[in-house]
Amino acid sequence: MTHDRSVPSPRTPGHYRLGLVCLGNICRSPMAEVVLRARVDDAGLAGCVDVDSCGTGGWHVGRPMDERAASVLLAGHYDPSDHRAQQYDDTWPAAHDLLLAMDADNLAELGGRSERVHLFRDHDPIGTGDDVPDPYYGGERGFEEVLAMVERTCATLVAALQREPDLGARP
Ligand code: 4NP
Repeated sequence: MTHDRSVPSPRTPGHYRLGLVCLGNICRSPMAEVVLRARVDDAGLAGCVDVDSCGTGGWHVGRPMDERAASVLLAGHYDPSDHRAQQYDDTWPAAHDLLLAMDADNLAELGGRSERVHLFRDHDPIGTGDDVPDPYYGGERGFEEVLAMVERTCATLVAALQREPDLGARP
């Protein structure tokens, strides 16, 4: 199994679309979406990198983030308030340059690894290729651990995006 930390080239030069996928779209992928968007913004790439997220299950469609996920994000000075859950469908692969699955089950739902489908933690320098564990049935601590993994992995992802030749290159 390869754990390639590079990202595939964008389909449209100068514009990158990243989609994050978990099960319910109320805990892990929305936490990663909010953190990744903040890091993209910090890197000056907000105008050319889009980030969104979805769940393979549809139970929570239209609902805001899980309160525990939101409070851990708020404690880290991120804003969770805009999130509304949405469900994965088969328009997602063509609409994104890279889909990142939070765990092996989510990855299997996307058809497994490919050039444009990775496990999120393929990009984590610690625990490369591991799952982001589902914190939904656990306590606050699980959400704090998810945030630490997500922050680390988003830093690596943004570094990979910064190596893309056409992104952020505009005067
Ligand atoms: P997520 O967590 O996939 O990280 O959003 C879950 C949220 C809800 C459920 C499972 C996992 N659920 O079964 O409702």
